[in-house]
Amino acid sequence: MRAKAAAIAVAILGCGAPSTAPESTPGENAAQESSVEIFSWWTAGGELEGLQALFDHFQRTNQDIRIENAVVEGGGGVNAQSELATRMGNADPPDSFQVHAGEELHSSWVAGGALEPVTWLFDEQGWREVFPSGLLDTLYRDGELWAVPLNIHRANVLWYNREVFAAASLSPPESWQDVLEAAPALQESGVIPIALGSEYAWTVTQWFETLLLAELGVAGYRGLWSGSTDWRGAGVTRALETLRALLPLVDPEHAALAWDEAAQRVADGRAGMMVMGDWAAGYFSSQRLELGLDIGWLPAPGTAGAFQMLSDTFSLPRGAPHRDNAVRWLIACGSVEGQDAFNPLKGSIPARLDADRTLYGEYAQTALRDFAQDEIVPSLTHGAAAAPAWASAIEAVLTEFERELDVSAASEALGKACSNAGRC
Ligand code: GAL
Repeated sequence: MRAKAAAIAVAILGCGAPSTAPESTPGENAAQESSVEIFSWWTAGGELEGLQALFDHFQRTNQDIRIENAVVEGGGGVNAQSELATRMGNADPPDSFQVHAGEELHSSWVAGGALEPVTWLFDEQGWREVFPSGLLDTLYRDGELWAVPLNIHRANVLWYNREVFAAASLSPPESWQDVLEAAPALQESGVIPIALGSEYAWTVTQWFETLLLAELGVAGYRGLWSGSTDWRGAGVTRALETLRALLPLVDPEHAALAWDEAAQRVADGRAGMMVMGDWAAGYFSSQRLELGLDIGWLPAPGTAGAFQMLSDTFSLPRGAPHRDNAVRWLIACGSVEGQDAFNPLKGSIPARLDADRTLYGEYAQTALRDFAQDEIVPSLTHGAAAAPAWASAIEAVLTEFERELDVSAASEALGKACSNAGRC
């Protein structure tokens, strides 16, 4: 299955206050009529509903602007990011695009001068006080803020089908050893132990980043990105060994499935469990499953007390064709109302600290609690920990590892990827 780019024009109703736009040139917007092109990769269940709810909020407050939904299918942004690179290279930016906070934002876009800083907008809207300081840190470079955060997602979650586990008399696994021990009982009842949708390879990287966190602990995991943890060392080796031990328990059709198709196998009870970021909560809810009743969750085995974080943000590209409208979009993204429209459906928690917590369901309540009390560490796969070139190199090592299962070759290659990234 290849990616399809879908451009859906959505008519807008609503009204809103115009915003300050320091870099607009006179007449710029007059020629461009009233539309705004929003670029993202949200097409799966939960993602779609969240995006539509945010559009609806924007409509209510901006009657005069038509949204062009430039959405490119492919979980994790795998296709969207390459299409975006092409467009940006051709000086054809959308008015605003989805980008992960942290290294992806800075190395892909800020460093090359592709974005306008939005510090002035944070000041105008009073946003410096409403976002967690750790999140703001991921948006700063050279004293400026570069994107508006919409949400916070957690990458290290294990989802399981409660009925399947109950039928096999199993308790939810707290370690990968528990999973290995539970597997025969699941297999005897005809259930695939672990769902995976690796049509796009990021899902394996995402699983592996939770194994790294489990084996290295918080300080060791952080050291992978700062250069103080050895990629050729014992912790990374153990993570590779665990992955090798678990791969035989994975859905044999994994290479043909997207992340949401794999989640559906957990929903159906064809598979027992999967590691996936909490956009899976949005997916399960969109399929009318009840979190806590049908689907259970735990921190990914061995990672309790740590929250592997990522944040989806929206940016202001230089040369945005409808810059004033893009600013209005950013205001919607950063508002309490926008965040509370989007996040309860998306599976994420609001980036703002003053959002309405009563709107969030049972899973999100635990994510809100854990985000406040856990150690926060950055997700590799979703742009927070490493520049995309380094993350892609790690992904390539893991793809090779799935075929060869050679732990020492993989740890050597991971060490080399770190050196190439200039961090080791
Ligand atoms: C992540 C993104 C999430 C979710 C996920 C699956 O990269 O941050 O919002 O959409 O991909 O598509």
